[in-house]
Amino acid sequence: MTTGDPDDVLLDIRDLELRYGAAIAVRGISLSVRRGQLVAVIGNNGAGKSSMLRGATGLVRPSAGKVFFRGADTTHVSANRKVRQGLVMVPEGRLLFPDQSVEDNLVLGAYVHGGLKTARARQTLDKVLTLFPRLKERLGQQAGSMSGGEQQMLAIARGLMAEPELLIIDELSLGLAPKIVEQLIDVLATLNREGLSILLVEQLASYALAIADHAYVIANGRVSHQGPSREIATNPDVMESFLGKKKSAS
Ligand SMILES: Nc1ncnc2c1ncn2[C@@H]1O[C@H](COP(=O)(O)OP(=O)(O)OP(=O)(O)O)[C@@H](O)[C@H]1O
Ligand SMILES: [Mg+2]
Repeated sequence: MTTGDPDDVLLDIRDLELRYGAAIAVRGISLSVRRGQLVAVIGNNGAGKSSMLRGATGLVRPSAGKVFFRGADTTHVSANRKVRQGLVMVPEGRLLFPDQSVEDNLVLGAYVHGGLKTARARQTLDKVLTLFPRLKERLGQQAGSMSGGEQQMLAIARGLMAEPELLIIDELSLGLAPKIVEQLIDVLATLNREGLSILLVEQLASYALAIADHAYVIANGRVSHQGPSREIATNPDVMESFLGKKKSAS
């Protein structure tokens, strides 16, 4: 969904560079997400997608470049403060608290707003459990004992509990069966239709491109292609790079 003023940029990453010691993982990436957009980022293993997200969310300090969120320079703002401002990430591999219950994981998602103390947080919890009825049935279950798909639902739900303005998801499909990925993609499309801005990093290109407005392809720490997702989906160079990762082939 694309809405509002075309200049209404929520996240604006400019010439981002990120190093791990001497190794450069991100070599000058510029990427933006406008309010209401669903933007997809695709790219092969080791391309620098997660590193770019770590730079954008404040988990790793960029070696160069800037990150603007809602128009303000947040390049050196801590990850914690960024979450409070509405920049929320569902990390690659989910990083749940496996020994804690589903409910505790959800409450932890709301900790930046004081847990479940406010009526608004309890409303958000109700909404999230309506979106994921499976979690509602399993509130007391240990998070780590759930299926991979249920755990990814919980990771997204925990992110929503932080009341994001922009929800970033790193590798939605990791380790999941195609049917579950389709269900989760539908949930993201619904959330986006309701107005949530989403930045989706996903190796299964066709799933992400099917629901995205705009897409970026990352290769070797750089943006190799970008454009409306329909154009990216039919770009022969891009499709060649992602052959075997198409929905039809899974
Ligand atoms: N903590 C780290 N220390 C050193 N090098 C790292 C670290 N994390 C990532 N790298 C390196 O940075 C490069 C980019 O990795 P990154 O995880 O950002 O890629 P990615 O596109 O997210 O890959 P994947 O699709 O496998 O998740 C790789 O060469 C990787 O080995
Ligand atoms: Mg990654």
